Amino acid sequence: METGPDSLFVTLLLLIHSSHSEKFEVLGPTDPIVAVAGDDIILPCYLKPNISAEDMAVDWLNLDFLGSHVYHYQNRKIIQDNQITSYTGRNSLFKEELWRGNTSLKLTRVQGTDEGLYKCFIKAKRWDHDLIIQVLVKAVGSKPVVSIEGHREGGMGLLCETEGWHPQPELVWLDSKGVNLSAGPPEIHRDLKGFYTVKQHVIVQETDTNRFTCRVQQNRINEKMETEVHLPSELFDYATPLRMAFIVLCCRGAITVIGLALAIYCICIKKGD
Ligand SMILES: *[C@@H]1O[C@H](CO)[C@@H](O)[C@H](O)[C@H]1NC(C)=O
Ligand SMILES: *[C@@H]1O[C@H](CO)[C@@H](O)[C@H](O)[C@H]1NC(C)=O
Ligand SMILES: *[C@@H]1O[C@H](CO)[C@@H](O)[C@H](O)[C@H]1NC(C)=O
Repeated sequence: METGPDSLFVTLLLLIHSSHSEKFEVLGPTDPIVAVAGDDIILPCYLKPNISAEDMAVDWLNLDFLGSHVYHYQNRKIIQDNQITSYTGRNSLFKEELWRGNTSLKLTRVQGTDEGLYKCFIKAKRWDHDLIIQVLVKAVGSKPVVSIEGHREGGMGLLCETEGWHPQPELVWLDSKGVNLSAGPPEIHRDLKGFYTVKQHVIVQETDTNRFTCRVQQNRINEKMETEVHLPSELFDYATPLRMAFIVLCCRGAITVIGLALAIYCICIKKGD
């Protein structure tokens, strides 16, 4: 076999070709991924052509948290520094898939804070490319719970509470004809995992049915739940608060009498010593 300028030329060509072959595209879904809270999901992301990503940097980012990572892989290692704490222990790459350009992310036990835009960023020595994926989180919360709070400003105070929603739901108080009641402002609380609790107070007047409904609805996830209460009309009785007050006073009175008796008894014992 001849070794001469020709074979050197071929070698050079091959070298040039191999540096160019590092060029790739990052692909994945174009539609949002809808995840149910508590489930495990895969955020698909892969290289085209399907070259190995084992020696590349794989960076998964949530665009709401700039400066930190959802997942960071580089030099064949997971880099834990600067990881967004809410993802700790819940995410991983498929290590056995990296050699064929599959850089999908597995996310376990999806929670409300996971909703957002994710970037799958892949960096080789001389080339990089990325992809944005939208994740929507759906959590159907609890059936509303209604409690009676007692007499308030000439009516009866009711409280409606529901928890565990994502996205934030809307509460509405309705009378028996389905007409909106004017209620207090909704009290919204978001827990550390990003799930919403909503409470709302209302003051109702006596009606011919005394039936009231608290409805919770979340249109994006197409969920709706209702709880109806029926208040006995005696509750609206104006005598009731007086009676209640009387009972309370009586109890207090009794406690005072017992307390006094005990005190006198103690003093007597001391004196008897
Ligand atoms: C890479 O892609 C080619 C065609 O696009 C396919 O035939 C081949 O099986 C893939 N290799 C791996 C390791 O997935
Ligand atoms: C990447 O790997 C995951 C886990 O095995 C698999 O579900 C997914 O289909 C793979 N994606 C591609 C593009 O091969
Ligand atoms: C009832 O009130 C809620 C908010 O207080 C509002 O979003 C809704 O459109 C109202 N519905 C009707 C039928 O007025």
